[in-house]
Amino acid sequence: MNKKLYEQMIRVNHAGEYGAQYIYSGQIKYTKDKKLKNELTRIAKEEKVHLDYFENLILKERVRPTIMNSIWKYGGFSMGAVTALLGKDYVLACTEAVEEEIVEHYRSQLSEIDGKEKKQFKKTIEKFLADEDEHRSFGSQHESQSLRIKFFKEFVRKITQTAINISEKY
Ligand SMILES: [Fe+2]
Ligand SMILES: [Fe+2]
Repeated sequence: MNKKLYEQMIRVNHAGEYGAQYIYSGQIKYTKDKKLKNELTRIAKEEKVHLDYFENLILKERVRPTIMNSIWKYGGFSMGAVTALLGKDYVLACTEAVEEEIVEHYRSQLSEIDGKEKKQFKKTIEKFLADEDEHRSFGSQHESQSLRIKFFKEFVRKITQTAINISEKY
């Protein structure tokens, strides 16, 4: 497998998992809904496992982290905080939108990984993909299907896509 492509994968996955940490911590900090907070905390723990894995790889393979890290950090945290203040439907819609993008991202990545050469890497991403898909399905439980929520979801998907695209290369 092309080394440059492998490094790009590590960089962007690290960035996404790093951002996920901040989105969920913003939500956990500002939500007033106890039940929701518990679920978000459970998800954030899984995201921490994902982040630790790529954090290790980025060091081991000496991959340069993305220049977008502080945007992921502050953007992610703000997104989490704002959605928590807007209420449960926005938190869930945000989760659904972000996780949909991540699921798509991991899926397309898996099709490019050489499973013979990078067996463990591929297996791990398959496992993470299953986790992300569970997070996505948790997010899909928002009650409101209003136009406002739909536009909001579209907005979050676009931001996530853009951040992913930039973090692959820069
Ligand atoms: Fe994750
Ligand atoms: Fe996730």
